[in-house]
Amino acid sequence: MNLYAVFGYPITHSLSPRIHAQFGRQLGIALTYERRAVPAGSLAAAVQSFREEGGRGANVTVPLKTEAYALASTRTPRAERAGAVNTLTFRDDVIAGDNTDGDGLLADLAYHKVALPGARLLLMGAGGAAQGIIGPLLDAGVDRIAVWNRTQARVQEWLARLRDDRLREPVPGDSYDIVINATAASLGHALPPVPDAVFRGALVYDLAYGPVAGRFLAHAQAQGAGRVLDGLGMLIEQAATAFCVWHGVRPDTTDVRALLRGETV
Ligand code: ATR
Repeated sequence: MNLYAVFGYPITHSLSPRIHAQFGRQLGIALTYERRAVPAGSLAAAVQSFREEGGRGANVTVPLKTEAYALASTRTPRAERAGAVNTLTFRDDVIAGDNTDGDGLLADLAYHKVALPGARLLLMGAGGAAQGIIGPLLDAGVDRIAVWNRTQARVQEWLARLRDDRLREPVPGDSYDIVINATAASLGHALPPVPDAVFRGALVYDLAYGPVAGRFLAHAQAQGAGRVLDGLGMLIEQAATAFCVWHGVRPDTTDVRALLRGETV
């Protein structure tokens, strides 16, 4: 039995089972992919019983990514750098941890022909989601990344820890090619309190998708954003990379994009 699952809490609305089922159909790989409601603090027990059922791998989402990092007995360099794990593979005594979020974001930006080399970025947020993408963005050759966070002390910690002279605090009056919202603000129906001018002419990307991201992106657009994108494409691309980790082949994402786009706007 080719059994996989996504663990998280809440998990009812996760699109991952449909995405992986579609990838499996596309490539002729028979698999079962389920949702498992796993509250914070109970990942180890959930993994153990899933392995007893024959589970071969699992995606891990909010609020379990740092728990998954700690649980993994081996970690890829990109998971190590992100400090978070979203893809677990079980074999023999090993729980292998990987992180496909950064790769998913870069693949989605490439799909939308957004050029990163030389770009000036504003990254909003300094939590787990932001941490997962900052390394791959730096590797993609951006000119600089200004990191904004509601709690400014967290930004100082980041700058001290990451030690890259392309990272800085935002300077009033700076303009940006790309603005990425990696805060959880829209989940609480708030807008991150950044000056409206930062959106002017920028490509604005929200890691969230659907109506949750819609409010923030509509605000950015009203403030003169050049283009807006939500995180549905990133969700699909991180799933494609996780699929490749498990099955050795990366699916084409065009069909799934078309399938889900009509349902989540
Ligand atoms: P995640 O894994 O989703 O990033 P997290 O690690 O709890 O979750 O981080 C949440 C991020 O959203 C943080 O950057 C947080 O800012 P603080 O460090 O100040 O807490 C940000 N955030 C949450 N609610 C917000 C709001 N209403 N306005 C602005 N930022 C918010």
